[in-house]
Amino acid sequence: MTQSLTIRRPDDWHVHLRDGAMLEAVARHTARQFARAIIMPNLTPPVTNVEAAKAYRARIMAALGEGSDFTPLMTCYLTDGIDPAEIERGYAEGVFAACKLYPAHATTNSAHGVTDIRALTGVLETLQRIGMPLLIHGEVTDKTVDIFDREAVFVERTLAPLTRDYPALKIVLEHITTAEAAAFVTDADHPIAATITPQHLMINRNALFDGGLRPHAYCLPVLKRETHRLAVRAAAVSGSPRFFLGTDSAPHVVGAKESGCGCAGIFNAPFALEAYLSVFDEEGALARFEGFASEHGARFYGLPLNEGTVTLVREDVVVPDRIGEGDASVVPFLAGATLGWRFKG
Ligand code: NCD
Ligand code: ZN
Repeated sequence: MTQSLTIRRPDDWHVHLRDGAMLEAVARHTARQFARAIIMPNLTPPVTNVEAAKAYRARIMAALGEGSDFTPLMTCYLTDGIDPAEIERGYAEGVFAACKLYPAHATTNSAHGVTDIRALTGVLETLQRIGMPLLIHGEVTDKTVDIFDREAVFVERTLAPLTRDYPALKIVLEHITTAEAAAFVTDADHPIAATITPQHLMINRNALFDGGLRPHAYCLPVLKRETHRLAVRAAAVSGSPRFFLGTDSAPHVVGAKESGCGCAGIFNAPFALEAYLSVFDEEGALARFEGFASEHGARFYGLPLNEGTVTLVREDVVVPDRIGEGDASVVPFLAGATLGWRFKG
C-alpha cells in the first residue's frame, strides 16, 4: 500500500478568504496547502474594479505576513452595469485572473450579481476576445424551480445557449454537484472545465438531515442525492483535464451557521488536501491526484505549473471541532472525523 504521496505543489481554483478578522484567521490555512488560489470577490461591497482587487490582494498578503510565497489570483465580480474596459484593463495589468458570474440572489453576497446574462453582451465578447476565463455559479434563481434542480436547469437553460453563442469563451462551471453538469462539461465541444469541492465528493444530501438539521453541511449549490455524488466523483478521478480542485472553502462564524436562517458555506480549507486525497485513495486513483490538484487547473487558465512539491503521508489526522476564536470561530468540514492522510508540507 502506498504510504506517502508527493505531488507538484497544488492550487485551489475557488476559495472565499473573506476580509477583516476572518481573513486573518483563515488565509494561512489555504496558503499552507496551496501555492495559488482563485479568490472569490463576493465581499461586501463586492470586488468590481481594479483598485478594489489590488487593495484586497494587499490585505490578503498582509494577513499572511512577511515571506509568504502564496499567490492570490484575483477575480472581478460581474454586475449588470460593469464596464468591459475595466475588466480588460485589470486582466492586461495582471490584477484580474478571471471574472465571476453570480446570478443575482443565487448565493451568499450575490445581491449585486447579474440579473440577465444575455444583457452582458459587451463583457462576454470582451472575455472571449482576450481569452479571460468566465467563472460561473451555475444555478437558476427561479423560485419555481426546486432547489435541488437549479444546477441542472441552469445547464440546460443558460449554459448550453451560452456555449453556442460564444464558442471560444473559456468557462469554468464552479463547484459542480450533479450528473448533468459533469456530463455537460465532459461532452461539450467547447473550452469548458469545472471545479469540484471536497464536500460534493464526500457527502450527499442526507448529511443535511443526519439525526437533525445540520447547518455545517449546508452550502450552495446544495448537496445532492447519492447518484449525483457518484457521478461527480467519477468525473473528479477520471483523469479528464476538464476537472480540477476548487475547495469553495466558505467560512462563516459559528453563530451565522447555527441560526434560524443559517448561511450557506462550508469551511474546508484546513484539511482540504487530506479530504480530496482520501477520495482518490478510495477510488484507487492515487496516480490521478496530481493532475486534478496541481496540473489541470493551471493548464486550463493558461498559467505555468508550480515548481516544488508537497507530501502527504498515510497517517490518521483528527479534524478539530472548532478553528479560530471569537469573531472568527468556525466549525470546519468533517469536524471530529478522522482522515487517513496527513499533509506534511
Ligand atoms: C459561498 C459563500 O459563503 O460566500 N457559499 C457557499 O455555500 N458556497 C458562496 C458560493 O460560492 O456560492
Ligand atoms: Zn464559492
